[in-house]
Amino acid sequence: MSKGKFITIEGSEGSGKSTNIHFIQEYLSKKNIEFISTREPGGTPVAEKIRDLLLDKANSSLCDDAELLLMFAARSQHLNELIIPALDAGKWVLSDRFTDASFAYQGGGRGLSWDKISQLEQWVQGSLRPDATILLDIPVDIGMERVHQRGETDRFEQEQLSFFNRIREAYLKLAKENPERFHIIDTQPSIEDVRKQLATVMEKLMVQV
Ligand code: TMP
Repeated sequence: MSKGKFITIEGSEGSGKSTNIHFIQEYLSKKNIEFISTREPGGTPVAEKIRDLLLDKANSSLCDDAELLLMFAARSQHLNELIIPALDAGKWVLSDRFTDASFAYQGGGRGLSWDKISQLEQWVQGSLRPDATILLDIPVDIGMERVHQRGETDRFEQEQLSFFNRIREAYLKLAKENPERFHIIDTQPSIEDVRKQLATVMEKLMVQV
């Protein structure tokens, strides 16, 4: 049996991940592709507990290294319990965030060394990398305005604009360094336009099946 495809969705806060993931799910269903949809940090009961810890505003004393290590602890559980078995069973896996988020948030945002993150990536994932990564891009001020309109914010969303500017820059740097894997979607135009961009990317991925 051939392996499923591993697709990750990334983006800074307020980039419309939920709506666009919903569109991708509908697209895959219409094409009769068997897939699972999951998220990081989280995706399994244990990893979701780690997520609660990471997003809880009460944990303001969490240090940057601990934050990074918890992201990878959750990822290890997620990979072994859910992602790898699904891919081995021939299913596609759609993940709302993955390791690029660690490079963008902990590397770009918090300023941790990329080398440290690469070492953890190698340890936890071996050679496994996403087949494709869809980066939903939005200027930081517009994205953060959307987040604050939604109301309640988590431990990350409370950070300053400069933190999110560094994250966006890191994502764009990752996309530039990995042009064969990344697909940047400009989420500023109308929903119809964004969907057209997404459909074009999905069509390309289907051809590569
Ligand atoms: P989200 O569900 O809104 O994307 O929330 C997850 C938060 O966790 C988001 O602020 C990004 C952050 N995050 C990291 O900082 N590093 C990571 O490796 C991952 C997967 C997420």
